[in-house]
Amino acid sequence: MHTLAVFACVVGVCAALTNKEIAQFVNGVKITSTTSSHKISATGMPEHTPGNVNPNDAKAQNYNFNIPKKPTYGSKGGCLPMGIIGVTIQGVGIFNPLTAEACDAVLVEKMDKCNGHPDMRGAYHHHGVPTCLVNGTADQFIGFALDGFPIYGAMASDLKREVTADDLDECHGREVNGKYRYHVTKEWPYFLGCFKGAANRQQGFMGSQAWCTNTKATHMCSCKDRKVFKKSPGRTDACPERPQRPNGNGGPNAGTNNNGATRRPHRPGGGSRPMRPFRPGPGTLVGF
Ligand SMILES: *[C@@H]1O[C@H](CO)[C@@H](O)[C@H](O)[C@H]1NC(C)=O
Repeated sequence: MHTLAVFACVVGVCAALTNKEIAQFVNGVKITSTTSSHKISATGMPEHTPGNVNPNDAKAQNYNFNIPKKPTYGSKGGCLPMGIIGVTIQGVGIFNPLTAEACDAVLVEKMDKCNGHPDMRGAYHHHGVPTCLVNGTADQFIGFALDGFPIYGAMASDLKREVTADDLDECHGREVNGKYRYHVTKEWPYFLGCFKGAANRQQGFMGSQAWCTNTKATHMCSCKDRKVFKKSPGRTDACPERPQRPNGNGGPNAGTNNNGATRRPHRPGGGSRPMRPFRPGPGTLVGF
């Protein structure tokens, strides 16, 4: 038995953002802390001028998030809602990997040079690696999930390489020195597969959750194998076919800015449609 385990997240509670992490927010993001939570306010606008990649115009939001200082582990991963699941150090929204049609957003939607785009409300967000932010530095803190756990880039100093989904648990995270963190990777599900900690319903939560069809699991992490992934109950529309990736370690443009000009499959129906609000089907799980 290791005494080290005492410091791990085994008792159901695990410390969240450190002061060092909090010091890294930029772009006017404000953080105030109470005894139990961090309150974060931001405009949601990135530092770069968002590219014109869909019919929506990026607009400043009035984000106010409240995340626990000590996230509590759920007995199993918590479902990801549609819409926002986390926030970058620039105060920009991180969304789950799905489109409104429950397809892989990174593969089927157009992104700007920083791998983000605005939704119908003008909320700029990332579904995949924020390529203008993640710069390959080891142990780079890049934001937090709404359950309170930090999100890091893929390059890990302890492994001396980039982590992949194989290094991570079903929620797309792991413990490092007794603290839990997520990693954003170039591969599905990019940011999170589920919430490791209990996430409060808060601003931006859309409440509904797309299910996988290949397992009985009720959260997205079961789609980590990328198999039958997709579709909430009652949905029949097909996802555009996904291109083959050359290897398991990222796409052809891995690690570079990606304007999506050549590798995104054509969307049936043509052009870029505005994102539709998610409509939960019967029996759709509501998150925490
Ligand atoms: C990468 O970004 C971090 C901040 O997130 C910064 O400290 C570091 O200097 C950057 N490294 C490079 C090579 O730009």
